[in-house]
Amino acid sequence: MSRLVVVSNRVMLPKLTKKESTGGLAVSVLDALEQHGGIWCGWSGNLVAGEPPDIDIIDVGNITYATVDLPKTDYDQFYNGYSNRALWPLFHYRLDLVEYSRENYEGYMRVNVRFAEQLQPLLHDDDLVWIHDYHFIPLARELRARRCRQRMGFFLHVPWPSKEVLTALPDHLELVEALLEFDVIGFQTKGYVLTFLDYVVRELGGTVDADGYLYALGKRARVQHFPISIETQSFMELADQAEDSNHVRRLVQSMGNKKLILGVDRLDYSKGLINRFKAYGHLLQTHPEHHRSTTLMQIAPTSRGDVLQYQDIRQELETEAGHINGTYADFDWTPVRYLNKGFSRKILAGFFRRSQVGLVTPLRDGMNLVAKEYVAAQSPADPGVLILSRFAGAAEEMDGALIVNPYDLASIANAMDQALTMSLEERVKRWARMIDQLQSFDVNHWRKNCLKVIENIPEKWKKL
Ligand code: G6P
Repeated sequence: MSRLVVVSNRVMLPKLTKKESTGGLAVSVLDALEQHGGIWCGWSGNLVAGEPPDIDIIDVGNITYATVDLPKTDYDQFYNGYSNRALWPLFHYRLDLVEYSRENYEGYMRVNVRFAEQLQPLLHDDDLVWIHDYHFIPLARELRARRCRQRMGFFLHVPWPSKEVLTALPDHLELVEALLEFDVIGFQTKGYVLTFLDYVVRELGGTVDADGYLYALGKRARVQHFPISIETQSFMELADQAEDSNHVRRLVQSMGNKKLILGVDRLDYSKGLINRFKAYGHLLQTHPEHHRSTTLMQIAPTSRGDVLQYQDIRQELETEAGHINGTYADFDWTPVRYLNKGFSRKILAGFFRRSQVGLVTPLRDGMNLVAKEYVAAQSPADPGVLILSRFAGAAEEMDGALIVNPYDLASIANAMDQALTMSLEERVKRWARMIDQLQSFDVNHWRKNCLKVIENIPEKWKKL
């Protein structure tokens, strides 16, 4: 394969790369870069006053880490502003939370232009360029404007919303037109491919052929779904090893005979955490037999703390946890343990393994890798039960889960009851289906599939 160039907002710099603390996606990207040689380009994490310096290059073996500093105002408009106050809520169907401003859009474009200017001189003609997520939708267009003819693929990690929702964004047309400068556009699920094509056909008057090639606005692109996954084998091993860790032993001891219902999420309004707490309250109200014999533990480290909505949800969640504990707790039982902090991957793997129910109930989620990690962490002889929102991309694949509507509190509470009382035989049957799927389709399979499709773009197809 040609040399690989990966662009993502966050870059796993070598000094931070310890396998145990690194997510499967970063490890898989690094594997690909090690195999083929190449560049990993993204934001350096540094904010500067005034004119930023040129791209910073660190070579480690055959990988070049190329990171860009950003002026504080550009970062605010690009990341906090347009990416996380406009695109994120919109792509997650939260039009009520969208804070749109033209200045932020201009800042977003400015940062994409800056990345293109800085990256273009580093590219070789036959490089394969793989760009990630909603921060960089216009990047191919900016690279093409600088005469970059390389094969370029895009992968969106978050949902693609319906046409009705997308068109509420004043810049929808410009963004989609820019997106069509990629040769390959990848989504997490078939559903997102269909909503994208629906926009292309109904809004742009484009056409789609049977093989997933679309033609619109005089451009051509291949559109496909590539469901992202985890490093299944190594996560299974991590959960095995974690069983003996101090944290896991302390957790098990503190639980006594109680069953643990566990949620692990970034503290984000898209994750449905308030509904999840309320559903547990509903379970305690309608099923008194689960009093004292269950605990809901929610791990939710703060995320994007500069954005107001993320501060609000923290408060709401504290209030809801306090409300449930105030209503039901006793001197020797706390129904909800809410932890506003993160843990290492190894500790999480161990916590997953020692919990009887995994609760993954986002209101919208591109894929949700916690659902897959929860399954991989289970003990084959005594697996826990996954409760999964129908609005997580993972629901297209995880057919052994109890699928719920996260807006329907009673349905989540019923699923909790069903999971807490499910027979060992049924738990094993459901788990076996999901682990087979995860072992066949892990993150390396995902990555190879994406890269193969980008690599196979015919020479005559090249843009320009
Ligand atoms: C989602 C996005 C990623 C992002 C991650 C963490 O999974 O798809 O692109 O990196 O959230 O969010 P943050 O804003 O902290 O990078």
